Amino acid sequence: MVEKADIVAEIERLRNAINHHNSLYHSQDTPEISDAEFDLLFRALKELETEYPELISEDSPTQRVGATPLTAHTQVAHELPMLSLDNAFNEDDVVDFERRIRARLQTDDPIEFACEPKIDGVAVSLLYEDGKLVRGATRGDGTTGEDITQNVRTIESIPLRLSGTDYPRRLEVRGEVYFPRSAFKRMNELALAKGDRTFANPRNAGAGSLRQLDARMTAERKLSMFCYSVGLVSDGDLPARHSEILARFKSWGLKINPLVAVATGAAGCVGFFANILTQREGLDYDIDGVVFKVDRMDLQQTLGVLTRTPRWAIAHKFPPEEGITVLKNVEFQVGRTGAITPVARVEPVQVGGVTISNVTLHNMDEVERLNLMIGDSVVIHRAGDVIPKVVSVLVQKRPDDAREISLPTACPACGSEIVRVGDEVISKCVAGKDCPGQRKERIRHFASRLALDIDGLGEKLVEQLVEADLIENSADLFQLSKVELITLDRMGEKSAINLLAALIKSKQTTFSKFIYALGIEEVGESTARALALHFGDLSPLWAATPEELQSIPDIGPIVAQKIHSFLEEDSNRKLIEALVASGIRWEIFESKNIVQVLAEQIWVITGTLSSLTRNDAKARLQSLGAKVSGSVSQKTSCVVAGDAAGSKLTKAQSLGIPVMGEGELLAFLEQHNA
Ligand code: IVH
Repeated sequence: MVEKADIVAEIERLRNAINHHNSLYHSQDTPEISDAEFDLLFRALKELETEYPELISEDSPTQRVGATPLTAHTQVAHELPMLSLDNAFNEDDVVDFERRIRARLQTDDPIEFACEPKIDGVAVSLLYEDGKLVRGATRGDGTTGEDITQNVRTIESIPLRLSGTDYPRRLEVRGEVYFPRSAFKRMNELALAKGDRTFANPRNAGAGSLRQLDARMTAERKLSMFCYSVGLVSDGDLPARHSEILARFKSWGLKINPLVAVATGAAGCVGFFANILTQREGLDYDIDGVVFKVDRMDLQQTLGVLTRTPRWAIAHKFPPEEGITVLKNVEFQVGRTGAITPVARVEPVQVGGVTISNVTLHNMDEVERLNLMIGDSVVIHRAGDVIPKVVSVLVQKRPDDAREISLPTACPACGSEIVRVGDEVISKCVAGKDCPGQRKERIRHFASRLALDIDGLGEKLVEQLVEADLIENSADLFQLSKVELITLDRMGEKSAINLLAALIKSKQTTFSKFIYALGIEEVGESTARALALHFGDLSPLWAATPEELQSIPDIGPIVAQKIHSFLEEDSNRKLIEALVASGIRWEIFESKNIVQVLAEQIWVITGTLSSLTRNDAKARLQSLGAKVSGSVSQKTSCVVAGDAAGSKLTKAQSLGIPVMGEGELLAFLEQHNA
């Protein structure tokens, strides 16, 4: 016969194990067991609890989701008000912030700050008594919020019971509940498929989900929470620094943001801001800035609070990624392949930290989709380094004299007819190579940074050269003489010499840049790289059949056909021959015959790289035969650690896996022609 005491012990053991693995998985991002093993533990506990329902407790991991919807949320008075933050919008504001603090503290020493991303979610308070989650509440107006205990219990990164024993008897933990971008995307895709309403952004969807009266709805949304401060504390002590309190949070199984760091002085804070800004795009959650907090708790105490904002913290906000402006006109430009692109001319507006006055509208389908008219007020979005786009039209603000946008019938550059090819969304100028607009664009592309990178040869100069009939194609660039150049407006002798020097320098290039520079339709940087890697040199590329082209990863039948036709065409062959004759050179390597140095290896990239994008690093490692994976394990061959690398780096170090810095990676890639 099984003793009841044994059952109690077994249930306790299972609960502890589940809590432990749950915290490793959801809060620390370092799972130790597989999902299947976790499910086994969970099922074992469920079975015992079904057999012995009298042993079910509120804080059992099986009890996250209650089945009885509420009729309303009750009000909760915060014993300590939930504060908000003062804002800094630029470096000067941060410098002033530190200066004010030093003046108050009467010290010349630089201040240490805990720096954290500012999560764009919903502020929440969690109350733990004797380590048990007893209440969850929204911030509300800072004084009174709503009781959302049932809802927060469903969030798997929130422990129902704290780990360890060294927590205060009563402890209020504050933080931000957010909707992970990936989960938000999945939810919207599902809603779309079912014909349900979709949500505008993760923040709104997260706030709505958290306040559901039926907590089963919250459970479906896969929310998460980062904890970032303490409220009420009684019967227990906490460490003397904010950063140490966060570390303690982590040891109790609470989730803290992995990017938190301690920096010294305003300069350190500004550095943190710049670093986080570069990582923003790649995060699985929205952030709208960073927060700096005086790290020493005693200094926080001395500095105190000014009505609703503490003197010891500030939010350094990112420039807004959206702005509203007026569409003044739409002009049509011809691209290097003859595609006619509508470009919006807007009243200059600050978005994402830069002034925007032109925005590409891509094609007429996009104009129709947006229901756009000249005179409209439009919302412009620009995130990171991505090109700005018009995301929506404020139709209710449309003026009476708004004008329709129509595709011109003649090419704006040469007057030839414009046609829409088959059912493609793109309209094209029929003049092909004879259109001076296309010609200019092809040359501009040839000279651009990712192609031959001809310093000083910008859009204006290309236009002047074509209009003065000095050049017709890119090969003509290398026949230019100083005498010819100085006939141009605003071209002095010195600029002419500089341009000629830049042209000579550009002749030493790589095969992939050369292919990219040709401007073959659909051949961007990465396809050019794949072609260069596969063929190694011009003659095998030239001889390639569409079938061989298609055998290259990521090249489908349409692109293969485009490349093949381009290389077959007489005028293109002549152009390539002329370019080679003018002295353009690249190192030849017979890639097919080289043993790929990283064959069979698994690499992991973590942290922020500053001189190349993560995708680029990945593609280049793959070109050497490596597999690039997202997680570190025994099988990992090498970890590339950029700035602010976190748990993956620690794990690699603990497993004794070789680690490379960004500089070493670059040297390695160069050395292997990747
Ligand atoms: S600290 C007294 N840290 O920003 C300090 N707040 O504008 C109170 N927020 O209501 C907040 N990330 O909802 C802090 N790492 C972070 C934060 C953060 C997001 C939110 C929070 C607060 C608002 C203030």
